[in-house]
Order: sequence, then C-alpha cells, then structure tokens
Amino acid sequence: MPRLRMAVIGVGHLGKEHARILASFSDVELVGVADVNMEQARAVAARCQTQAYSDFRRLIPLVDAVTIAVPTTLHRDVAVEFLRRGIACMIEKPLAATLEEADELVDLARHSGAVLQVGHIERFNPVVLELEKHRFQPKFIEAHRLGTFTGRSLDIGVVMDLMIHDLDLVIHMVGSPVQSLQAVGVSLFGRHEDMAHVRLTFGDGCLANLSASRASPRPSRRMKIFAPEGYVSIDFQQRRAAFVQPTQSVRRLREIMTTRGCDPINVIHLKDGLYGRFLQVREVDLQAVDQLTLELGDFVRCVATGARPKVTGEQGRDVIALASRILDHIRRHAWEGSACGPVGPVQIPAPLGSFFDEFPPAEDLAA
Ligand SMILES: NC(=O)c1ccc[n+]([C@@H]2O[C@H](COP(=O)([O-])OP(=O)(O)OC[C@H]3O[C@@H](n4cnc5c(N)ncnc54)[C@H](O)[C@@H]3O)[C@@H](O)[C@H]2O)c1
Repeated sequence: MPRLRMAVIGVGHLGKEHARILASFSDVELVGVADVNMEQARAVAARCQTQAYSDFRRLIPLVDAVTIAVPTTLHRDVAVEFLRRGIACMIEKPLAATLEEADELVDLARHSGAVLQVGHIERFNPVVLELEKHRFQPKFIEAHRLGTFTGRSLDIGVVMDLMIHDLDLVIHMVGSPVQSLQAVGVSLFGRHEDMAHVRLTFGDGCLANLSASRASPRPSRRMKIFAPEGYVSIDFQQRRAAFVQPTQSVRRLREIMTTRGCDPINVIHLKDGLYGRFLQVREVDLQAVDQLTLELGDFVRCVATGARPKVTGEQGRDVIALASRILDHIRRHAWEGSACGPVGPVQIPAPLGSFFDEFPPAEDLAA
C-alpha cells in the first residue's frame, strides 16, 4: 500500500512534535513542514529528513493529509485551503478561534468529504481510555487544569487554551446538553482571561465545576467524577486514576443503619474498613503511553481507512459553542452584582487593600 503523503503546518512548540512522530510512522511519508519562521522550518525539516517551506500553500499539491499547529487564530485561514480541496486535516485544539469559523470548517469538510479531526489530546490519555471501558453516568464533576505561564497561546484566553480540554471531556462523558452556567474570569496579562471558573448544569442534573489557570506556580491537571456507580479520581499529568466503588458490604451496612439506626459496633467496622472492605479501590498507573503518538496514529488510520475519527470536527465545534457561551458570561460578569460596576475579565475591581505590608512600585517595562 502506498504511504500517506503528509505535512505539518506550523512547527513551533507542538508542531515540531507532530513532525517528529509522523516522520517515524512507517505508513507515512512526511513530504514537508511549513512555518513562516523559515529558520524553525529548516531546523525541524533537517531533524525529520524532509523539506522546509515558508508558504504552506506550496504543499497543497503534494499531500493527502496535513496536521495544523499554527496559532489558533490562524487555524481557519490555513485549514480552509486544504479542506476545500478534500485534503484531510488534523487541526490542533481548539478547532478555531470562533464558533463561526468552526462552523465553516465543519461545513467545508462535510461538503468535500475530507477527514477532519481535532487535537483534543486528552481523549487519548490512557486514563481516559481506561475510563471509557466502564459504563457510568456522572452526576458531579470537579476539574482543575492549572498551567504555569508559558507565554504561548496568548492569542486566546485560558478557556479556549486549557479549559477546552475539560469541556470536551465533560461533554463527552455526560452526553446531555448544558442547560445553564455561571462563569467568572480574571485577566492578568492582556486582553483575555488568564484564570477562569465555570459551573455547568446539564439537562440530566449533572453539575460540573471547572477551574483553569495559566498563571499557576505549579502545573496540575486533575478531575474527580462522582457517579451512582462509584467515584473516579484522575491525575491527567501523572496518567493515574483511582476507581472507588461501594462493595455489597457497604450496601448491606447502609440498609442496617437506615432501618435499625447506628450501632456503634457497625460504625467502628465502617471506620476501620472504609477503604477495602466497604469501598473497593482500584488504582491504575499508565505512565508509559505517549498520547500524541496515539492521536496522530488514529488520524492516519482514519485517513487510510475512512473510519470516523475519535474526535470529529463536529465534536470540536460543539466544545467551541460551549466555550463561547462561557466567554460570553465571563465578559458580562458584574463584579459588584450590577452592570453599573466593573464588568468582565479585564476590569477587575480596584483592590481594597494589600495582602502585603508594602505595595512595590511598578517597574519600567518596554512600552
Ligand atoms: N493539544 C494540546 O494539548 C496543545 C498543546 C499546545 C498547543 N496546542 C495548540 O497548537 C497550536 C500551536 O500552539 P504552539 O504552542 O505550538 O504555538 P507556537 O507559537 O509554539 O507554534 C506555532 C507556529 O506556527 C507558526 N506559524 C504562524 N503562522 C503561520 C503560517 N501562516 N504558516 C505556517 N506557520 C505559521 C509560527 O511561526 C510558530 O512556529 C495552537 O492552536 C494551540 O492551541 C495544543
């Protein structure tokens, strides 16, 4: 079978990893990489033994499929050139900067028949793949996705940059529409929110509290899921999960305590054997798997076989629709409970005081 002719557009922080992995696949011929930063394109091309281009359009006649890892605000402009010609695209998350652009890309792919996959890489986290093996219906979800400041992706805010991963996961897991939401965001550096919190209420009664920051002193990516079937605690970064499920003994004890009241002996049994006898725990540690390799492998397989990608363009579009609702709430959030006061992520209220004894003067920074 002929190898799939592929290219990577945008070989910065993430795209260079796409190129490295695609170059290692035996069923792919990496025909080139494109980046407006020609020095970067040349360095990556040399490492991957392929050609460097500054204008991605020159790759159009040469490829069957591309991965796109340019800044989010450029996803649409790059992707339309390939999708309208029926060339398969794996576009990094988030699919596009706005809902209108996401709709346009999904429509184009539908009309041209091109495979469109979105880089929601957390779906390929082995812990999430493990979770998918079990049937459960989440009723409460809590997620924290905290990143250190990297200086990248400042063309978008933290909702589109980081929270988007958890939004995609909760939409996927809950499978019920979001009925209402409350959101707040704080902007530290520029036009967009750098920290955000949202509370989502789903049609099936599930509640989800999601927090994201890109100015945290330490990175952390965790989620807790409570369901009638049990409880799951996930550390995405460490690729570890703990599954906790009530045993038959706890069900029996609950019956006894509900009908006959709390017998002190039973309370001692419960206290001594909570984890183990009453709550069964299974811990999984799946550190050795590389998510990006799984994700790109899935894309190559879908292009070669016509199979449906794990994260479709429509799913990428739906998560942007939810992110857009959240951003709208953040923009309208009234810090003092009324639209007459400060509103939105940028106009944080004037501080009433200082946590520190002295408030250092502003430094001279480049204008
Ligand atoms: N899936 C994930 O977990 C994840 C992680 C990081 C970034 N991303 C996404 O990947 C994308 C890229 O992020 P990054 O951190 O690699 O950014 P980056 O700034 O490091 O890289 C972007 C590259 O695109 C190049 N570029 C800009 N305009 C171009 C054009 N018209 N043609 C060709 N190249 C062009 C830039 O020169 C740069 O080298 C973003 O959409 C981001 O949200 C996803």
